[in-house]
Amino acid sequence: MQSGVEMNVWLRGAGLSLLVAVLAACESGATNPEAAKPAGGATPAEVQVGEAKFSANCAGCHGVRGVGTKQGPPLVHKIYEPNHHADVAFQRAAENGVRAHHWEFGNMPKIEGVTAGDVDHIIRYVRWLQREAGIY
Ligand code: HEC
Repeated sequence: MQSGVEMNVWLRGAGLSLLVAVLAACESGATNPEAAKPAGGATPAEVQVGEAKFSANCAGCHGVRGVGTKQGPPLVHKIYEPNHHADVAFQRAAENGVRAHHWEFGNMPKIEGVTAGDVDHIIRYVRWLQREAGIY
């Protein structure tokens, strides 16, 4: 039988690890722009057009290779995997902008000067980056 003091210490220890677990779970969720690793490999030819369009129109906020910046979230992140944000979400984001809901960067403005075809290229590029990072 444990003494009251020992039990108390043990309970506090358990409480602390629970807290740590909860904090860690939050961090891997919506608010940590460092959550994704940038894809390292050379860009394959078939997504290079998308890379150029992404760099010109999206990387200012979403970062080089989609890792995020202080202006916008990483797109190479599990919340943007195809099952959670399908390709149409990218088309809508560029066409209409996005009201802030997942993060605290503010709203995304609609992006002038990109066509739906451009966004198709960008989507293919971002999906490649995601796959490189193990996000399907
Ligand atoms: C001026 C900064 C900025 C630029 C430029 C920008 N974005 Fe965003 N984008 C954001 C922010 C901020 C969010 C996050 C909104 C939120 O809190 O969910 C976002 C969210 C998104 C989302 C998620 C949409 C959803 O349904 O949740 C997609 C997809 C996206 N951006 C794609 C793009 C693409 C593609 C481009 C380039 C054509 C682009 N963004 C350019 C700031 C930007």
